[in-house]
Amino acid sequence: MRQIKIAPSILAYDLGNLREGLEIASRGGADQIHLDVIDGRFAPNITFGPGTIKALRPRSKIKFDTHLMISDPRLYVDRFIEAGSDLLTFQAEALDAAVFDLLHAVVHSKKKEMGLALKPETQLPAWAEERLDRLSTLLLLTVNPGFSGQKMDVSVFPKIEKLSRLVAEKGLEIDIEVDGGIDEENVHEVVARGGNVLVAGAGVYGRPDPVRAIGGLRERAATAAEGRGGS
Ligand code: DX5
Ligand code: ZN
Repeated sequence: MRQIKIAPSILAYDLGNLREGLEIASRGGADQIHLDVIDGRFAPNITFGPGTIKALRPRSKIKFDTHLMISDPRLYVDRFIEAGSDLLTFQAEALDAAVFDLLHAVVHSKKKEMGLALKPETQLPAWAEERLDRLSTLLLLTVNPGFSGQKMDVSVFPKIEKLSRLVAEKGLEIDIEVDGGIDEENVHEVVARGGNVLVAGAGVYGRPDPVRAIGGLRERAATAAEGRGGS
């Protein structure tokens, strides 16, 4: 079983005080901070960009998990690397094989990790399956991209199972990151299906005690992972 990792999504915190949101994630023992970048074109919201990420970088050593929901990541990949992202996850819908190869060359040359994200309705494209070994992360959205606080779309569950099985069959150590509507009540269902990186926005920052919420998610996820046993 791949290691369980908790990734609070800072989009759910007070956007005027992201520094505090980052501190909360560190204090709660989160494994990585999930940074949702949306450009108003790929999805109907505008969040923050490389300048904000760069300003946060000196504040913490935590892994920066940058989820790029932008239409043309070629234009900005360098800036997000330079800002201090450790993992750069691109939406498959915004790529094709050639763009993937170009982005991978850039990310790899800077010794950063690359992830690929799929909207709830998107299946893994053939070009991506052929390139799975270049990824550290497959991110499966369980909400439509745009906003924190949406309800988890459980119709994505079979895809989580299918892709975690595919990754295991190929003998790859890819994280299966699940993003959207995760909370203490449903995290076990995600882990039972093979998710191991658990993004939570409202499920952490929307709680009265976000530090405790991180611990609560980890506990429940760990119990579910034991149940799954070694797979
Ligand atoms: C949606 C984002 C998610 C979102 C998660 O566009 O990719 O990361 O912020 O927030 P919750 O956990 O509240 O659904
Ligand atoms: Zn996200």
